[in-house]
Amino acid sequence: MSRFPYTFLGLAALLGLACGPGKHSVQRVSVPLRTDHSYGNAEQVRTTHLHLELAVDFNKKRLSGTATHHIEHKSTDTMMVLDSRGLVIEEVLLDDGSSANFRFGIEDTLFGTAVLIPLKPETKKVHLRYHTDSTAEALQWLSPVQTHDRQHPFLFTQSQAILARTWIPLMDRPDVRFTYSAKITCPKELLALMSAANPQQRNDSGIYHFDMPQPVSSYLMALAVGDISFKSLDSLSGVYAEPGFLDSVAWELADMPNMIKKASALYGDYPWGRYDVLVLPPSFPFGGMENPRLTFATPTIIAGDRSLTSLVAHELAHSWSGNLVTNASWNDFWLNEGFTVYFENRIVEAVYGKDFADMCAELEVGELERTLERMMREAPKDTRLALNLKGRNPDDGLTDIAYIKGFLFLKHLEQLVGRHRWDDFLKEYFRVYSFKTINTEAFKDFLHEHLFQTAKEVVYAQLKDWMYGEGLPAQAPKPASERMKQAREAALKYQTTRKPDPLMAKGWVTQQYQHFLRNMPKDISTAELDALDQSFGFSKSGNAEVLCDWFTLAARVWYRPAFAPMEAFLVRVGRRKFLKPVYEALSATPKGLELGRAIFRRAKSGYHSVSAGTIAEILGVKS
Ligand code: BES
Ligand code: ZN
Repeated sequence: MSRFPYTFLGLAALLGLACGPGKHSVQRVSVPLRTDHSYGNAEQVRTTHLHLELAVDFNKKRLSGTATHHIEHKSTDTMMVLDSRGLVIEEVLLDDGSSANFRFGIEDTLFGTAVLIPLKPETKKVHLRYHTDSTAEALQWLSPVQTHDRQHPFLFTQSQAILARTWIPLMDRPDVRFTYSAKITCPKELLALMSAANPQQRNDSGIYHFDMPQPVSSYLMALAVGDISFKSLDSLSGVYAEPGFLDSVAWELADMPNMIKKASALYGDYPWGRYDVLVLPPSFPFGGMENPRLTFATPTIIAGDRSLTSLVAHELAHSWSGNLVTNASWNDFWLNEGFTVYFENRIVEAVYGKDFADMCAELEVGELERTLERMMREAPKDTRLALNLKGRNPDDGLTDIAYIKGFLFLKHLEQLVGRHRWDDFLKEYFRVYSFKTINTEAFKDFLHEHLFQTAKEVVYAQLKDWMYGEGLPAQAPKPASERMKQAREAALKYQTTRKPDPLMAKGWVTQQYQHFLRNMPKDISTAELDALDQSFGFSKSGNAEVLCDWFTLAARVWYRPAFAPMEAFLVRVGRRKFLKPVYEALSATPKGLELGRAIFRRAKSGYHSVSAGTIAEILGVKS
């Protein structure tokens, strides 16, 4: 990381040094961050509504147009400070038609550049004309060959955590909520979609209008443009995907309407009108992203057997935990993700039964244990639920701690007071904090006010240990399932027989294979992997979760026959969760590292910057 130390910022301003692209000739000024990750001065000025008018240019790989902020401010305040990163801002107009004499802060490689706009006491609207540049990390521009149907280019955005500022000048902090509207112009043969009320069909003009009438945080701003079709699942939900993929997607996600019904029955009516899922091309760096009204999802959940749809349950759950009740800062990220993993698990239980839900939880707790083992060595402070990410990339908080430790904490509270009281409490939580943001301390207070009834409960809850302590409290719940038990026993049996027994795996689902693969003997040989591959056909599996665990094992053991399909997988799929373990396993030996670097050289042009950055770091190369 090459950020300037804070003292240097002051010095640079004093000396009149200008850093950054230098598009703007005016001298740059030193501007302090107002939160741990944003320059936005929401304490003085707030955006209440944002209107975007953007043209999508696939040739230039550029969004250009205007962002109009409708604002509220105390009439005495004279400056609005927005976040931006790599944006070229051409002009800023106030609602009286005057041109604002705006300035930039000194550029920071992580947080970008503050845009300082002097306001007049009566200013109600601020209008910025701008375009994105080639460094915009939120944008991934795909060529036709990177899509499913290989006919048309594709664009999608990923704003979480602090990338919204790379395509829109705004206050990029989750505790600022605003409604938005947009007019997007794109090539006529493509359809544009946003995290808002969406069209279901292409039109002949290539112009689309969007409206998000409920206030959302900046990290939920989203846009996708491509050859996209829609298929309805019921009156409230449906799927979007490329035409050649649409039927498979609709089949795989057919349980969505039931999930929405079950989720609403648990914690209150679905708050956003429609719920649709857009399945993206395979380079999408995440599993899913909970963009309001329109979840973005990786195609790697389309396994052909509906075994990976819990990801949709997860993103759907964010409609309450995250989008409705939002973490106030990225230090409170566990309030978004821990709650969502808990809620996801309840939806999965309601739709697929308790054993399936417990199986998913058990697999995840296994992952948490491995993560904790490493983190307690390398970064014990980051194993706390309440984080301190000041000055760091908030993505550093994107670990199993927020997700699985957060989930176990809530499960622990459920077990303490019983499900009935716990569900009433959660319902109340979502009601009271609707369209608000919350931090860890406020959640603690809310527990005291609305959950605990006796001093004994307060003691048993051990809130301090859970929220502010490192590692995992000893009394953490231990989910256990029949299906995982079968997989564990099969792995144990294999440890002694060293012979695959396909009969044992009859009727297994994805997660059981994963558990089995993760529990292979440390000293397993290439000949034994060969026998496993013959019996189970792992290398030819169409299931990305299974492939990921298999290739990780193959890389560790140096099982060459799996390398061709492994490389094909690493080139086609850009989901960071799958890339990371395989590249890590490769990096463990010099020859593996060499192979990993060679594959990365071929694959990286297809990776999103989020994935490319992580993998480059693992391989010790430039991204
Ligand atoms: N909101 C997250 C994705 C995210 C978090 C993106 C932080 C950028 C920064 C999303 O809801 C998520 O958790 N996705 C998971 C899938 C889920 C089933 C655990 C993923 O992408 O793997
Ligand atoms: Zn999530």
